[in-house]
Parts: sequence; structure tokens; C-alpha cells
Amino acid sequence: MIKIIFSIILGYLLGSIPFALVIGKVFYKTDIRQSGSGNLGGTNAGRILGKKAGIAVIVCDVLKVVLAFGLASLVSEVAAILTGLACCIGHCYPIFANFKGGKAVSTIFGFLLSCAIFVFQDPWYFAGPFLMFFLVLYLFKYVSLASICGALYSSIFITSEQFILKMEPIIIIICSWLMTLLVIYRHKENMKRIKEGCENKISWM
Ligand code: G3P
Repeated sequence: MIKIIFSIILGYLLGSIPFALVIGKVFYKTDIRQSGSGNLGGTNAGRILGKKAGIAVIVCDVLKVVLAFGLASLVSEVAAILTGLACCIGHCYPIFANFKGGKAVSTIFGFLLSCAIFVFQDPWYFAGPFLMFFLVLYLFKYVSLASICGALYSSIFITSEQFILKMEPIIIIICSWLMTLLVIYRHKENMKRIKEGCENKISWM
């Protein structure tokens, strides 16, 4: 039990590392919280600092979850899944950045990649949501909408797989839906903007 609690705390702390802020400040002398959507995520980093910075932020945010999840999987599968969730929460509410972080998109993909590698050894846990994300992005040009659809797809996929294959542990269903709800909640302003027709669209697709 102590090991699980330790993993969860480590997950939250790793998730709390605000790479969008660090990369912006160190390499571009820019605090991206002051510009664009103000969000500490790959999309806003790309918007303010350029494509290269956006990709670097996304890769670091994905990898921090994979690292936390991978370390916790040495304890147990349950510890790894809970640690992945803690990492997503840390990313959204980082202790190192006044609890104002990102919108959990890169981190949910980090979680899915980790599940694909460490739990299921099945690439579709990551590839399916990833393809859904790009399909919606291609069709509508909204990163926010694509993120919500990718997250929803992942939870529906995980839930149906668990029921069909009767796999354990059930905790993955609960954690996956909590993460998807977190993604939706963190995008409430974006959804409002989509309704009002003033959400940013990407121009490079
Ligand atoms: O990275 C989160 C994305 O879905 C939306 O970000 O900056 O457009 O609010 P942003």
C-alpha cells in the first residue's frame, strides 16, 4: 500500500512539471500563460512559440506520463493506472505552477501509450484514439474538439474491450472515464467558443 501511495505522489509530481512553461521560458524567454489561450499545453506553445516548441512540449508531456506509469508498473498494474491518473491531474493542476496547468490532452495520450505498452501489449489502445483525434482535427480543424473526441473514443474503447474480454483490473475503466471527464471539463471554455464560432482553428492541415 505504501508503495502505491508513493507511486501516486510521484505521478502527481512528475505530471506537475509544466514543460510548456519551462520550454517557453528557457528557450524563448516567453511565458505562454500571458498569450494565446494562456494554457500550459502543446497547442498553445505551438501557437505562441512555433511548431517545433509545440512538438517538444507534447513529446515531454507524453513522456512524463510514460515514465511515471512505467516506474509504477514495477509495483503493480493498479499502481501504474492510478499513477497515470495522478500524472494527468498534476498536469492540469500543477503544484509547480500555481495549480494552473494544461488540459490533459498530451497526458491522456501518454496514459494510453503506457497502457498499450505496459498493460495490454496492444497498440490499438493508443492508435485508435490517435487516429480519431486526427480524423476530427482534419474534418473540423479544432484541436479542442479533436481532443475531446479522442478522449471519449479511448474510454468507450477501453470500456467495451474490458467487458468483451472480461479483463481485469476494472480500475482502468474508472480511471479512463475520470481522465476523459477531466479533458471535457478543462475544455469548457473551448466548447463555449466553438458554439459561438470563435474558437481558434489550426491552419496547417
Ligand atoms: O492542448 C489542449 C487543446 O485541446 C486546446 O488548447 O490552447 O486551444 O485552449 P487551447
